[in-house]
Amino acid sequence: MNVLVTGGLGYIGSHTCVQMIEAGITTVIIDNLSNSNPEVLNRIESITGIRPRFFEGDIRSERFLDSVFSQIRIHSVIHFAGLKAVGESVAKPIEYYDNNVNGTLVLLRAMRKSGLKSIIFSSSATVYGDPETVPITESSPTGNTTNPYGTSKWMVERCLQDLLASDPAWSITLLRYFNPVGAHTSGLMGEDPKGIPNNLMPFITQVAVGRREKLSVFGDDYPTPDGTGVRDYIHVMDLADGHIAALREVSKREGLHVFNLGTGKGTSVLEMLSAFSESCGHPVPYQICPRRPGDIAECWASTAKAEKELNWKATRNVADMTRDSWRWQSENPDGYEKK
Ligand code: NAD
Ligand code: UD1
Repeated sequence: MNVLVTGGLGYIGSHTCVQMIEAGITTVIIDNLSNSNPEVLNRIESITGIRPRFFEGDIRSERFLDSVFSQIRIHSVIHFAGLKAVGESVAKPIEYYDNNVNGTLVLLRAMRKSGLKSIIFSSSATVYGDPETVPITESSPTGNTTNPYGTSKWMVERCLQDLLASDPAWSITLLRYFNPVGAHTSGLMGEDPKGIPNNLMPFITQVAVGRREKLSVFGDDYPTPDGTGVRDYIHVMDLADGHIAALREVSKREGLHVFNLGTGKGTSVLEMLSAFSESCGHPVPYQICPRRPGDIAECWASTAKAEKELNWKATRNVADMTRDSWRWQSENPDGYEKK
């Protein structure tokens, strides 16, 4: 099976490519390098012994996509490419809708032209907004998004559903990720955000390695056991395996397939800090700060549907996540940049 991975040099894409190659799937990568480093290709090759075919280019260029599809017969597309920083999306909505929504439409047009009708889309728990109840199931309400990034993910979900309504031969899989963290166990690949990290785990790792002074804990007065926000953190390798399960179980079946990819367990900010300190062997400095606007108190997934229909379940725990994140960060203090 030949699978095209858009955004395959990014954080989740690169780990998924490794798992795909190791599962014997021929992997072809497209990336415009806007948020990734070509060094990732070398790392994928070091881990797997195989260098996947890589096309540098932008999914918003139909001519570029046509050229890729004319060179290789693709069976399915996993679509990671997009912009993902919530705060930046508020400041740059046009760029976010252009990249995430328009980019997906151009991709779908090129796929349709080449007769390819199977896509797995990287969606997010953000489409559920502030959930009324936890755990969140796939049938929980969506669309009450609070920023252009979240809205762009929800809009793409709607575009894909409308496409399916117009042509039932499509196989559309929406994977709603909870909070991906962790890194490959080799220490060769991990998350390498540009600039100041927005998310908890990369911020903690940069404090632990001495790149930043201390973590700001955004609020300790939430209605949660220790007052800090609770999230469903999932190891990126489990997430990667979830894509292989989706490729195997549903990508060849027509229709709409929607799955949460999480662990079903909530972890607070202070619990994550304490687990991380265990892994790195020293305390991680922090201070309690006001809540971050737009944050919710708690959020975790119901995993029942993915377990039943994808035959997939996360197997790595929080200690695995902090250990692997720390290995990656301590062995690559500057990420993929060579100093
Ligand atoms: P990432 O930024 O590390 O990876 C995205 C990749 O896509 C990058 O390599 C970037 O260079 C590439 N890209 C962006 N725009 C492109 C374009 N127009 N053409 C070609 N390539 C382009 O992000 P990630 O964390 O790996 O996330 C992957 C996907 O998963 C994204 O769609 C994101 O919205 C979604 N997601 C991520 C998270 C998370 O916490 N990381 C959570 C839920 C959903
Ligand atoms: C964020 C995004 C969400 C996106 C998800 C995955 C916001 C409001 N939401 O979710 O749309 O899908 O990332 O990428 O940005 N925290 C701190 N200090 C920090 C960073 C985070 O205390 O420096 C806390 C947060 O308040 C939260 C938890 O850590 O309670 C997790 O935060 P984060 O990693 O940013 O993920 P989400 O807020 O769940």
